[in-house]
Amino acid sequence: MRREMFLPTLLVTAVLLSLSSARPPHIVLIVADDLGWNDVGWHNPQMYTPNLDKLARNGVILNSSYVQPICTPTRNCLMTGFYPYHTGLQHFVILDDTPGYIPTNFTTLPEKLKQLGYSTHMVGKWHLGYCNWKYTPTYRGFDSFMGYYNGREDYYTHEEGTGYDFRLNKDVHYLPQADYSAHTFARRAIDIIISVDPQKESLFLYLPFQSVHEPLQVPEKYEKIYSNIQNKERRIYCGMVSALDEAVGNITNVLRERGFMDNLLLVFTSDNGGNFQYGANNLPLRGNKNTLWEGGTKGAAFVYSETLLKKKNYENTEMMHAVDLFPTLLHVAGGSPDPGIDGMDMWPTISENKASPRTEFIYNIDDIDKNAAIRVGDYKLIEGIPGQNNGWYPLPTREVHFQEEDSVGRLNVDIQYQLFDIKHDPTEHFDISEKYPDVLEKLKQRLAEYKKSLVPAFSPPPDPKANPKYYNGTWSPGWC
Ligand SMILES: *[C@@H]1O[C@H](CO)[C@@H](O)[C@H](O)[C@H]1NC(C)=O
Ligand SMILES: *[C@@H]1O[C@H](CO)[C@@H](O)[C@H](O)[C@H]1NC(C)=O
Ligand SMILES: *[C@@H]1O[C@H](CO)[C@@H](O)[C@H](O)[C@H]1NC(C)=O
Ligand SMILES: *[C@@H]1O[C@H](CO)[C@@H](O)[C@H](O)[C@H]1NC(C)=O
Repeated sequence: MRREMFLPTLLVTAVLLSLSSARPPHIVLIVADDLGWNDVGWHNPQMYTPNLDKLARNGVILNSSYVQPICTPTRNCLMTGFYPYHTGLQHFVILDDTPGYIPTNFTTLPEKLKQLGYSTHMVGKWHLGYCNWKYTPTYRGFDSFMGYYNGREDYYTHEEGTGYDFRLNKDVHYLPQADYSAHTFARRAIDIIISVDPQKESLFLYLPFQSVHEPLQVPEKYEKIYSNIQNKERRIYCGMVSALDEAVGNITNVLRERGFMDNLLLVFTSDNGGNFQYGANNLPLRGNKNTLWEGGTKGAAFVYSETLLKKKNYENTEMMHAVDLFPTLLHVAGGSPDPGIDGMDMWPTISENKASPRTEFIYNIDDIDKNAAIRVGDYKLIEGIPGQNNGWYPLPTREVHFQEEDSVGRLNVDIQYQLFDIKHDPTEHFDISEKYPDVLEKLKQRLAEYKKSLVPAFSPPPDPKANPKYYNGTWSPGWC
């Protein structure tokens, strides 16, 4: 009797399981632009980010997840699984009028996911080259693209410098100017979600928001949340973070309503540290965006899934880097990367809290600025000048515009190597290079080893042919 009842139940369960596992999970990858370490609710109670906090706390908070110091290089890592010093994108960012790109022989994440049957959509900032159509999102693996090519622009008018920069797929797309980009992008993401049947297709949605990069702009209602903050830049900046949070809340609500949540992985990460000159804060970490310090390279990040994580509601402190998302997401999708990529599969590390396979990583190697940093175990070696802003920048309290660099931020230019024990000194207060010459030597040798495979930085000069005046006032492909 018992057995008879048990068997059909088992069969039904098995059928249901095989049905739900037949389809590779939906993947939503959200990137916040220039979001500081101290600018999310799970690090700083000043921040109002209820949606992000809930996802982070019910998922896995990544507390040792590294990114590149600036936009283009990090996005390169996400799309290729290679460090930028292997793609030529290690020096600075692609500027509006410089013809940089990801070389086309690198297979992108959406290209790989398409091979596995995914629908691939991108909403937001590209910043990986557009001087020729072949470098733009719909030629690099995305079925659709809504967003902009360059690194920054006005949140309402989509003007950047002397040109307009906003597209729907390949077409210039003019929007009502009252629209704030966090709302525009959330609506677009929701339209895409609604257009996909979660039982019939697997969705890859790449959502690199404009928020919270400068210019400092936000609708008043979000700024008002922070009326207790006296510093105007900080108040607007925090409002921008809360608008982003609301966008993520709206998107996850629709994912839930539409039945995506029982087979979905959501990843959230910043692309680099915050910029204190525009209201962001990285405390207690040292440095700023565009520096090799932890404040420039340790990303605020989490992973959320209701069904795919064996272990959740915890903080993961295992070492990982932005290049690792490529093989990790491919693993979740049921695929595997081509051999030779820099990224490592972190799925067992994230989903079961197993030890990370990664014991070393490269923060960057910039052959033009002549600086580099490497991590080996607990130790970090910095070679050369790590950047321009080298201090610990406090939360702004006064009505100041751009804070001048404080004295702790100035670095002796004669210093060639600095060594830190990140495990015991995560805020990089104590250079131990003189105390541990053997460790210093070991890390120098490891760095020299990595440098052997360096591809020289591709850093072409500005090209006047990029001028929007040749393209009806828009930043457009066609000049390389
Ligand atoms: C998380 O990272 C912060 C900043 O580096 C560090 O201070 C803290 O100790 C880390 N938490 C854990 C549990 O390791
Ligand atoms: C792409 O081509 C460059 C230049 O020939 C080469 O160095 C690099 O290894 C290639 N990368 C891949 C992934 O094929
Ligand atoms: C979120 O949805 C609400 C309700 O539709 C809307 O009022 C709000 O503007 C949306 N926010 C964003 C950032 O999209
Ligand atoms: C040229 O740009 C203007 C806006 O500046 C736009 O209204 C017009 O449609 C564009 N023309 C073409 C042919 O794209």
